[in-house]
Amino acid sequence: MSSIRGSLLCRLVVIVTLAGVISMGIIFFQFSPSHNCPPPLPKPKQMKVHKCAKSNSSFTNIAEEKPILLLWIWPENYRFAFNDCKKFYNIDNCHLTDDRSLYNDADNVIVYHRAIHWHLSNLPPSPRPPFQRWIWLHLESPTNTKRIPGLENLFNLTLSYRQDADIPVRMRLTTRKKPNEDFVIPKKDKLVCWIVSNNDPTTGIDTRNVFYREFSKYIQVTLFGKAYARFLDYKDYYPTMASCKFYLAFENSIHKDYITEKLNGPLAAGTIPVVLGPPRRNYENFVPAESFIHVDDFPDAKSLAEYLIHLDKDEDAYRKYFNWRKHLTPSPHLILQTQEFILAICTACDHVARHREYKEAHDLYDWYFS
Ligand SMILES: *[C@@H]1O[C@H](CO)[C@@H](O)[C@H](O)[C@H]1NC(C)=O
Ligand SMILES: *[C@@H]1O[C@H](CO)[C@@H](O)[C@H](O)[C@H]1NC(C)=O
Repeated sequence: MSSIRGSLLCRLVVIVTLAGVISMGIIFFQFSPSHNCPPPLPKPKQMKVHKCAKSNSSFTNIAEEKPILLLWIWPENYRFAFNDCKKFYNIDNCHLTDDRSLYNDADNVIVYHRAIHWHLSNLPPSPRPPFQRWIWLHLESPTNTKRIPGLENLFNLTLSYRQDADIPVRMRLTTRKKPNEDFVIPKKDKLVCWIVSNNDPTTGIDTRNVFYREFSKYIQVTLFGKAYARFLDYKDYYPTMASCKFYLAFENSIHKDYITEKLNGPLAAGTIPVVLGPPRRNYENFVPAESFIHVDDFPDAKSLAEYLIHLDKDEDAYRKYFNWRKHLTPSPHLILQTQEFILAICTACDHVARHREYKEAHDLYDWYFS
């Protein structure tokens, strides 16, 4: 209102003094770049707003203040330096802390599901500050998830491998316009490899073990990992994977979007992943159809083995599985056990800095177990 009144006044003055240049005056007034900030509540569509926001207005101050993200409990006690987010992912837009004395100031609090006591005694205190959002961090599949009662309507944001989480966590392939012609398939001296660290039957590994037993009757598989007493040093992880023509990327349990670093490893190393997990279409949400082999593409384990043996001899057909590399780039993931949660926590940091919307995550388990 005051701006309308102001321009009327302005126009009056102009009429009185120089009636001939009214229109010129208005045009000038409306289209010349403004050097003063417009009066209160500038209209968002005007370019002027941005010009003025650049100066020291309250807009920029809000944008520059990093939101505090408090890690309430260290997941599995795997501690890392918070500046790893900058180091590994160039993420530096929130103030990450594990200092609980900042609780009342924290814009967001990450609570790690597996660490929550059954009686909820170790949750952050209530009432929570009215602006604060709680983030539910959980990376296990539903098969390996305890339904701790009382969490159903407590959180604001979910942080999970699920693509429909509020904050999805995943290594993604990135596109490139200029084709990369430099990629060379690494030298191979093994046919099929598999690194197995978990052989705990309670974690849902039945499907993959049944399939593997049958499959290994027809083809040579080189096994590594704790489960087979051939522990692979971390520094040998990528080179070993690269030296195999195929890698068994078998998930321990089968759920939508539960496609883990077991797929990213071979893609980043330059090996063809043979996947067992959710349907092919789900994989194709994340990686190109011709970058992997799905066990469901074959009627049984024997025909899969025969196909791999055929590909081993047909170099041109084998090479086709790497064509995607021209326009897509994989990134190696962090492989130390203590680094397991870095990507998730850094992803949350970046998210809360960009999204400050109000949100409630209702019926957590209905969503998670559906
Ligand atoms: C903006 O204002 C704040 C506090 O009012 C001050 O500390 C800061 O130096 C100012 N920045 C610029 C770029 O003028
Ligand atoms: C966060 O979620 C809780 C529980 O659903 C809700 O009471 C609270 O208002 C939400 N707060 C924000 C800032 O989103």
